[in-house]
Amino acid sequence: MSKTIGILTSGGDCAGLNAVMRAVVCRADSLGWTVIGIENGTAGLLEDPYRVRKLHPDDFDGFVMRRGGTILGTTNSRNPFQYEMDDGEVKDRSDEVIAALKDLGIEALIGIGGDGSFDILSRLAEKGGINMVGVPKTIDNDLYMTDLSVGFDTAVEVATEALDRLQPTAASHDRVMILEVMGRDAGHIALSAGIAGGADVILIPEIPYTIEGIAKKIQAVKDSGRNFALVIVSEAVKTPDGKKHEVVYYGGETRYGGIGEFLGPKIAEATGFETRVTVLGHVQRGGNPTHNDRLLAQALGVKAVDLIEAGEYGKMVAWQNRAAVAVPIQDAIKECRIVKKDGFLVHTARSLGISFGD
Ligand code: F6P
Repeated sequence: MSKTIGILTSGGDCAGLNAVMRAVVCRADSLGWTVIGIENGTAGLLEDPYRVRKLHPDDFDGFVMRRGGTILGTTNSRNPFQYEMDDGEVKDRSDEVIAALKDLGIEALIGIGGDGSFDILSRLAEKGGINMVGVPKTIDNDLYMTDLSVGFDTAVEVATEALDRLQPTAASHDRVMILEVMGRDAGHIALSAGIAGGADVILIPEIPYTIEGIAKKIQAVKDSGRNFALVIVSEAVKTPDGKKHEVVYYGGETRYGGIGEFLGPKIAEATGFETRVTVLGHVQRGGNPTHNDRLLAQALGVKAVDLIEAGEYGKMVAWQNRAAVAVPIQDAIKECRIVKKDGFLVHTARSLGISFGD
């Protein structure tokens, strides 16, 4: 029986979102279903006329799937339950979103998002009786129940390449290079890229460090006759006395940032090395998705449509043991999945002689 499904991207973008859409549209088309793309997350349903367009396999002509970003646009600041109007008034507009979905004849909604987006979308689904399936995406890789979220692999690849590029310049100038990466409250990007990119020190929010701990490792590097060192630090790492480093943007929104610049002079003072700091920022979210992200994105996209076909809702598609499976969405977002201090990757790093500054 023909169905109309809606799809939206929500929260911060990352590489691989267009590949998810391609898989959803192709799989749905094979069933004779219609896919409506909703622009800018749920915010596209709060405009008059709605910002929506039919998506067809021809829209994914082999070019779009390779591209980063999202052809539908996204937002991480337009929560329909607390929607800030142009005059500053905050309104609950959730009923309008629910009405729009019904008006468009959308029988099932695929939300490509992270924890914040899934929280909002599942509240909408519950309130409006909407059939919803989630596809996990976040460079932070901090959702439970899935080994990987779309976008993480590409972010790690970018951070690893940054270390590859920093190494020769560090060696040419006898420097310690400090690379600050994203990841919010979880250190997955720094841990994976630090191992893959040969960092000497990995600093993550989950493992407390001291400047002396970092200096000890760098001194050992120096004593071994090497003239440079690489340090990778997660944006949410605090100062040794527990202070968060944040950037305040115009309008008052805050984001993590600045820990690298804090550490630079401290490491220079403690080690005698000249230091330089690189903040990778949104470069980790852009660019073409890696083949792993394209594969993951398309497997999860197909699985999302499979779930709709089977009438299984309130689920997130997840990657476990090299296969796409369905898990309850609430289990995936119950809390932020941080790095396990006694996990195998931390053990791997320590076994390679990498220091966590502790
Ligand atoms: O959650 C993804 C993420 O890229 C985080 O790693 C980072 O802290 C944040 O989003 C940046 O948000 P924004 O795009 O709003 O600056």
